[in-house]
Amino acid sequence: MSNTVEPLVWDKRYAVGVDRIDREHESLFNNYNVFIQSTQNTGDQTAVRFGIDLLSNYAANHFANEESVMRAANFPELHPHHLEHERFLAELDRLKRAYVAGEPVYENLCRFYRTWLTNHITLNDKKLSAYVYGLGG
Ligand SMILES: [Fe+2]
Ligand SMILES: [Fe+2]
Repeated sequence: MSNTVEPLVWDKRYAVGVDRIDREHESLFNNYNVFIQSTQNTGDQTAVRFGIDLLSNYAANHFANEESVMRAANFPELHPHHLEHERFLAELDRLKRAYVAGEPVYENLCRFYRTWLTNHITLNDKKLSAYVYGLGG
């Protein structure tokens, strides 16, 4: 396994301006960094499988919290946003099953998690704060 998996570095440009959501996003970054530090180049398949489950469970919990904030704010794009969350979890699950089946998908999985998360936060999650603060409240 080569050493090409990049960490996620938190930056102010990822802040959406809702404290609870920003803290959870930082945890999503940290979880990923712990995952790659503890699994990269180890060949420890049990740790990878267990780590993917932790990443997935924390993300699912965050999505539920974020969607409840959106619901409370009457955010009009809740449904398509929910579908984006579902697609992420489904793809992570698909990659996990491919990994368990022996396919060399570890780096793809890391890249998918990293790029999906940073794109989703900057392009989609930020729409919530734009909507809420755009109301003047
Ligand atoms: Fe989201
Ligand atoms: Fe989010």
